[in-house]
Amino acid sequence: MVRVACLLIGYVCGLFQTAYIYGRINGIDIREYGSGNSGTTNALRVLGKKAGLIVFAGDILKILAAGFLVTVLFNQGDFFGDRAALYKLYAGLGAVLGHNFPFYLNFKGGKGIAVTSGLILMMDWRITILCLIAFALTVGLTRYVSLGSLVITALFMISWIFLGQTGRLALTPAHLLESYVLVFLIVAMAYWRHRANIKRLIAGTESKIGQKKE
Ligand code: G3P
Repeated sequence: MVRVACLLIGYVCGLFQTAYIYGRINGIDIREYGSGNSGTTNALRVLGKKAGLIVFAGDILKILAAGFLVTVLFNQGDFFGDRAALYKLYAGLGAVLGHNFPFYLNFKGGKGIAVTSGLILMMDWRITILCLIAFALTVGLTRYVSLGSLVITALFMISWIFLGQTGRLALTPAHLLESYVLVFLIVAMAYWRHRANIKRLIAGTESKIGQKKE
């Protein structure tokens, strides 16, 4: 029951569509411009650097809020340990679902990368550093943000398998497999949401960051 509650709390927090709201404040529906995605990269592409920064911060904050809420409500405010890890992962899955499929926007939201980044930040600083380096290298070398997103989500899965049983949120063997399934679902969803990007990357037609085109 607690798991379902964490999922629901995550979903509700994920519904806060920073890019969509910021776009509306600026008189546009972000989903009708650029890649059509309600996320950081498209806000940066369509509305500029300040917008990208605000949207990224907003989307990170909502998953941090979800993680904070579930640990306060269901883990006596203890942010570390096995239960905290599990509850944060359920909240993370919920937040990605709410972000990607907001019911009040006809289920047309974002791709969940900023939210997943916030979840990684909340789960393990070692994985956060690995992902930061991988993202900087990938985007620095290729200028493809989508490729950077695909790399860090895959890295999240792989490194969680190796590091999930150690660190401040170390999971007990009983919950380890469950955590793998949760991380897998989050990562699989990121790949699913990036399927058009993947096709464009293969075809060599994906837009590069800093490239003026639409
Ligand atoms: O975080 C989303 C990014 O990976 C791709 O965004 O707008 O280029 O499809 P976009």
